[in-house]
Amino acid sequence: MDYVGRPGPSPVLAALFAAGTLRENDRILDLGCGAGLDAVALARWGCRDVTGVDVEPAHVAAARRRAARARLGHRVRFVEADACALQDAFGEGAFDVAWDGLLLNNLRGEDEARYARSVAHVLARDGLLALQFRVTKRAWERGAEATSPALERWFRFGPPASTLIPEHTGRPRVPPYARVAVQVGVRNARRA
Ligand SMILES: C[S@@+](CC[C@H](N)C(=O)[O-])C[C@H]1O[C@@H](n2cnc3c(N)ncnc32)[C@H](O)[C@@H]1O
Repeated sequence: MDYVGRPGPSPVLAALFAAGTLRENDRILDLGCGAGLDAVALARWGCRDVTGVDVEPAHVAAARRRAARARLGHRVRFVEADACALQDAFGEGAFDVAWDGLLLNNLRGEDEARYARSVAHVLARDGLLALQFRVTKRAWERGAEATSPALERWFRFGPPASTLIPEHTGRPRVPPYARVAVQVGVRNARRA
């Protein structure tokens, strides 16, 4: 799959950074980083320790090229890794913040449980998991959250998702109900 992504970094991520939810000194993990738009943007905004992971070798290669072109390779690195098995690649508590820009949407069943355990392992205690996820307008109006029993086993959830933005798909005929929302304040509460 050749994932091209949005034309620019996530506006949700930009808002979190502007609000000080993510800080320049945080060790930040971008889960399912795709072609590296968000991770490289974080480095450009001043973050000094950014790591993007993706299972697709072609995406990791594209992300590395992006960082090299931006001359930000000293602040951001890209690793080919499965977000559901991060224990294989990183130590316990290796990151302060994990940013998920639409990866969780792709995971189902057992993978979601593996993801939750894996991310909890590599996040510092009280580290922040920020989730940007897709919801339908209808689900949003019913109060959709990114929570699930699998995630709640490892993370303490804060207030419900707090914003809703139109999703840029780059495809004019994509259904108008496509939206992305963010849930923050999701703190790593437990350890294996
Ligand atoms: C919808 S794309 C989002 C990419 C990027 N975060 C963005 O917002 O532009 C989902 C990405 O997750 C990656 N992915 C899917 N399953 C994964 C897994 N188990 N571990 C790591 N990355 C995964 C895909 O290869 C893809 O690049």
